Amino acid sequence: MQLEDIEIITVLGAGTMGHGIAEVAALAGYEVRLRDINEELVEDGYEQIAWSLDKLAEKDRISEETRDEAKESVTPVVDVESAVDEADIVIEAIVENMDIKQDVYEEVSEHAPEQTIFASNTSSLSISDLSEATDRPEQFCGMHFFNPPVRMDLIEVIRGDHTSDETMDVIEALAEDFDKSPVRVRKDVPGFIVNRILVPLMNEACWIVENGDATVAEVDSTTKYDLGLPMGAFELGDQVGIDVTYHVLEYMHEVLGEPYEPCPLLEEKVDNENLGQKTGKGFYDYEDDGANVPA
Ligand code: 3HC
Repeated sequence: MQLEDIEIITVLGAGTMGHGIAEVAALAGYEVRLRDINEELVEDGYEQIAWSLDKLAEKDRISEETRDEAKESVTPVVDVESAVDEADIVIEAIVENMDIKQDVYEEVSEHAPEQTIFASNTSSLSISDLSEATDRPEQFCGMHFFNPPVRMDLIEVIRGDHTSDETMDVIEALAEDFDKSPVRVRKDVPGFIVNRILVPLMNEACWIVENGDATVAEVDSTTKYDLGLPMGAFELGDQVGIDVTYHVLEYMHEVLGEPYEPCPLLEEKVDNENLGQKTGKGFYDYEDDGANVPA
């Protein structure tokens, strides 16, 4: 397959990353099918895309015409077969769980055309293991976006053990067509490159607070203002989703060992479903008029 052959892109999962990826594909002029497991989730994802496109138009980052065209090119779908039966590319952005992802890939393999390429937005899991759940491991690679996809320039394109050169080339070309900067990751290691650096940073920030060495506000003011990161470590954790950070760490801990042990503070937030911006509360509280105060 070549870039010119791509017309229809299906995004599996309408959550934080899935809807953002669908928005990026729509803005690049593709026909997009956004799939999730029920009407409520898929409609919620569509509404988030509409919110974001309105915001971008309001701030003159895109024209009103582009906004309207992008809105029209996204179709919310629940049925798996009709989501993928005409797809040229399937980008998967569902929950960060190997068993669930593998089950979905088995089902999608049955209904997607033979030539369709699969790309996973996994934050850390093995691309090779995921590809083996499909009927086309050579047409499979990682395509890792960053949150919020519509604003972040980088995409990691990750080669698994079975990925063909043609698959890498076409996904890299697609990332460029999305107006992003792809970086090839040639080793399929947990967390790839960015999360291998960023997620331990967020974990270490938690250990500092857990041990009583500094407060959330103190850590964030040093990471944001002194270290020069665009957001504080905890603000970023809330934006990415505390569950995502926790699952990535659990996997890195399992495969890479002790230095990646998740801080109990993360587990506590996950158990209480305080997952960050998406639930209204995480390390900060977003519920009072959108105010951003330590929780
Ligand atoms: N769509 C449209 N608008 C959005 C938006 C979205 N998805 N998300 C936020 N905005 C809006 C805000 O509502 C705000 O609007 P307001 O001014 O009306 O309140 C506005 O954008 C803020 O944008 P600005 O350009 O004014 O602000 P910033 O200069 O702070 O830029 C940012 C925002 C680009 C998000 C910047 O803070 C940033 O780069 N943050 C770091 C994000 C990051 O590192 N992400 C990677 C995380 S790791 C990851 O995702 C991997 C995963 O696997 C864990």
